[in-house]
Amino acid sequence: MTKARSNLQIDSTRLWGDIHDTAKFGATPKGGVRRLTLGAEDRQVRDWFRNACEKAGCEVRIDALGTMFALRPGRDMSKPPIGIGSHLDTQPTGGKYDGVLGTLAALEVVRALNDAGIETELPVCVCNWTNEEGSRFAPAMMASAAYAGEYTTEDILGRKDADGVTVAEALDTIGYRGADAVGQQRFSAFVELHIEQGPLLEAEHKTIGVVDRGQGIIWYNGTVAGFAAHAGTTPMPLRRDALAALAEVVLAVEKLARDHGPHAVGTVGEVRIDNASRNVIPGDIAFTAEFRSPDSATLDALHDGLQRAAAEIAARRKVAVAIEKIWRKEPTVFDKALVDAVETAAREMGYSHRRITSGAGHDACNLASVVPAAMIFVPCKDGVSHNELEDATQADCTAGANVLLHTVLALAGVASKTSG
Ligand code: GLV
Ligand code: MN
Ligand code: MN
Repeated sequence: MTKARSNLQIDSTRLWGDIHDTAKFGATPKGGVRRLTLGAEDRQVRDWFRNACEKAGCEVRIDALGTMFALRPGRDMSKPPIGIGSHLDTQPTGGKYDGVLGTLAALEVVRALNDAGIETELPVCVCNWTNEEGSRFAPAMMASAAYAGEYTTEDILGRKDADGVTVAEALDTIGYRGADAVGQQRFSAFVELHIEQGPLLEAEHKTIGVVDRGQGIIWYNGTVAGFAAHAGTTPMPLRRDALAALAEVVLAVEKLARDHGPHAVGTVGEVRIDNASRNVIPGDIAFTAEFRSPDSATLDALHDGLQRAAAEIAARRKVAVAIEKIWRKEPTVFDKALVDAVETAAREMGYSHRRITSGAGHDACNLASVVPAAMIFVPCKDGVSHNELEDATQADCTAGANVLLHTVLALAGVASKTSG
């Protein structure tokens, strides 16, 4: 890897302004952002992003799943670009930084190169990946998974949200079903900047997380079928209460994760009681669950443990519990040379840093299976994310963007410099 060549920095005020300007698309009263993928607010931020990328001299292309690719030419256009970026969709009660920082910092890298009059050897491509969050359509990170060949484009286009709207219909509604085939935009490497979304960097007073691994993930859709009956007249021993059974499933998920600690986590995030009523014993429930671990064998053990626990709870309580695995993402090991390049950039910029495993899923984790990939983390306040309170400092966001800039300079190479 070539050394970072200068003390070139991104424009911190411009980046901070963009993060807060775009937060108006889907702003919530509590200071967060609700920008579900492919909804009206997503269209607004996409239009903003396309316009900003074009103003920065990029050609913007869109693929069949709506992922946006903004290309800054390099001297050698025979080579695929260095891809940088993240996502602009958010959780239903999301924050201002998850995904946004990495996407807007990537745009800021291009502007900083423009301002400094730097032509890179390789082109640079700023990306906004569709549906990273996975809260409207499952699975999460579906566009980058399709890019990596894990799903066909047709499969993903047919996925439905809770109202039965398909990805294809949602893309057409906002005008973002592009002409390019998924996978057409190749990369020489991909680097994603993101807030940590966990507590380690803040606790250790480190500015930069050099991400070398990502956790594996399993997602489930589950149902519990009991028997709906009168809450006042049905004696306790005769009940087949679906919610009481689900409560045991929730505790089993928690216990399994604790027992496989310290790095395993398990969550039941969504529960829907059909025809819920205060004086009816719940009869039918739908729920979601997930496990995560950096270790594949641990994921297997968690999966087997959940199936066993569910069967035992169902038999004892005379209810039916079905837990269907709908997605499994293997743990990620990021590219060693690229991870080293991120670390070198952090060190040469004088930022404190440490190696770190990503607890969250990211598009870079999918891309890592088809192209050398790496990630840069910066701290977020109290480690809180997927919450409107999500917060990060301007200094840390700037540091992350500077490390991204210098990683890009090292990977793309400098062809010529006319000013700056
Ligand atoms: C994506 O945000 C995830 O669930 O990790
Ligand atoms: Mn994210
Ligand atoms: Mn997220």
